[in-house]
Amino acid sequence: LNLAILISGRGSNMKALLEAARDPAYPAKPVLVLSNRPDAGGLETATAEGVATAVVDHKDFGKDRVAFERAMDARLEAAGIEIIALAGFMRVLTPWFVEKWSGRLINIHPSLLPKYKGLDTHQRAIDAGDAEAGCSVHWVTAGVDEGAVIQQAHVPILPGDTAQTLAARILPEEHSLYPEALARACAEIKARA
Ligand code: GRF
Repeated sequence: LNLAILISGRGSNMKALLEAARDPAYPAKPVLVLSNRPDAGGLETATAEGVATAVVDHKDFGKDRVAFERAMDARLEAAGIEIIALAGFMRVLTPWFVEKWSGRLINIHPSLLPKYKGLDTHQRAIDAGDAEAGCSVHWVTAGVDEGAVIQQAHVPILPGDTAQTLAARILPEEHSLYPEALARACAEIKARA
């Protein structure tokens, strides 16, 4: 399936997906990395991996979220995209976009969903006294971080953990989880067809 990866920042999860997709047997083929920020570090990584990049800067659209999304959608359609992986993409998507790409849109989130939707997940897990934390790959629906979970990975929360140390423990798990979960999502899409 033709894959687009949407990023806003450093793109380490994007990189993990691009590396997995070097295997010709991998079910997704990255054809476009799209960023809403012109300065996203991941854009250079994608170029170095030989993947086309595009920037659709949300600031060019003021408060009009749907106009921003229509501009992204045009790039995605032009590239023949069949599945979209959000990887540190920091804009909330409107129901218009989510419904248009429904069943073909997945995200990675650094918590054990349904716990800690939204931001600041690591600190919230520590503050709650949880014994473990982790990350989830899920289908995207109109509610932020609400869609069905495809796959999760767990890590312990250790005494003395800060948001930074916990995030550093979870991130490598994200990098192995996302390629696996994306492959599962592709299998589900193909089984539907
Ligand atoms: C990751 O922790 C991801 O789970 C969250 O945002 C972060 C993005 O990091 N949604 P990167 O850009 O993939 O390095």
